[in-house]
Amino acid sequence: MKAILVTGGLGYIGSHTVVELQIAGFKAVIIDDLSNTRVEVLEGIEAITGERPDLEILDLKEKESVTEFFEKHKTIEGVIHFAASKAVGESVENPLLYYENNVGTLVYLLKECRDRGINNFIFSSSCTVYGQPDILPITENAPVKPALSPYGNTKQISEEILADLCAVSDLRSIALRYFNPIGAHDSAMIGELPLGIPQNLVPYITQTAAGIREELSVFGDDYPTPDGSCIRDYIHIQDLAKAHVTALQRLINLENKANFEIFNIGTGKGSSVLEVISTFEQATGMKLNYKIVDRRPGDVTEVYADTNLANSELGWKAERSMAEALRSAWEWEKKVRNL
Ligand code: WQD
Repeated sequence: MKAILVTGGLGYIGSHTVVELQIAGFKAVIIDDLSNTRVEVLEGIEAITGERPDLEILDLKEKESVTEFFEKHKTIEGVIHFAASKAVGESVENPLLYYENNVGTLVYLLKECRDRGINNFIFSSSCTVYGQPDILPITENAPVKPALSPYGNTKQISEEILADLCAVSDLRSIALRYFNPIGAHDSAMIGELPLGIPQNLVPYITQTAAGIREELSVFGDDYPTPDGSCIRDYIHIQDLAKAHVTALQRLINLENKANFEIFNIGTGKGSSVLEVISTFEQATGMKLNYKIVDRRPGDVTEVYADTNLANSELGWKAERSMAEALRSAWEWEKKVRNL
């Protein structure tokens, strides 16, 4: 049976994608170095689908281990590549770590794929590449702006590497530019597991509601938006996961229109931080403790996707609401904390 390699497959987006791959009938093989997740996520995946994916715990920076992996797993027909460091702030302090881990490992992986005729490659990209867009909603043709962080730059460079390789080889690749993934699987068997103090909004909200954090700090309410707080495009993690399976099937079925394609994966709707808070309270019945503080450096005012290309060309559309995502995030938080 052909298999799909999912690098970073025990991570937040990776694990939800493995579940959707298995439901779609694919065999998933995971590579993860466990640097930003826990091996117990494997039990969660199996609890949902009844199928335990193969797991190889290895660091993609170890070239020999990567080669050994492909020697051992000879039925890989495609790759979904999530494994990367993704903390914007950390990337500013330690850029070489990000260029080595995010760009260097992509090059090794692509060499192995090229040498073994593995030509279906889905890449985890990000709306970060757009910076603060001039026009909203953002289309895939919007200019890629100078990155605001080494993290964002690694996503831009990675897309360029893929475009260059696809132009001169049999590689077919799709980069999915995610907006803001939130929520957890509706079984509450897998979800987001931020290690340490959460950087992202929704896990900080659920940890505040669970009493683990004193109160949420809202980073600024003096932006030029209707309620003064920043606007983002929050997409349910299960919708995002499904987009990867749809993109993979497009490549395997040779339905791609170009060897390298890019799609925005968002809902097409912008929501402010204060709207997320009020939706969370309505969806869960919890009262959230928060205060307004200064802006966070590097935050863009407003970002949300034009999803027409993904809807019409890829044949994928976000179906779940933000309320559903926030409810699932809260159910997951309660499960993890035994509340
Ligand atoms: C969302 C909004 C904050 C925390 C990040 C990465 C990006 C991509 C998606 C990987 C902003 C506000 C947040 C808090 C707050 N990830 N906020 N208090 O920054 O849009 O994007 O995740 O590709 O690369 O940068 O997401 O969840 O950090 O912030 O007020 O405690 O919530 O100011 O407006 P962001 P976020």
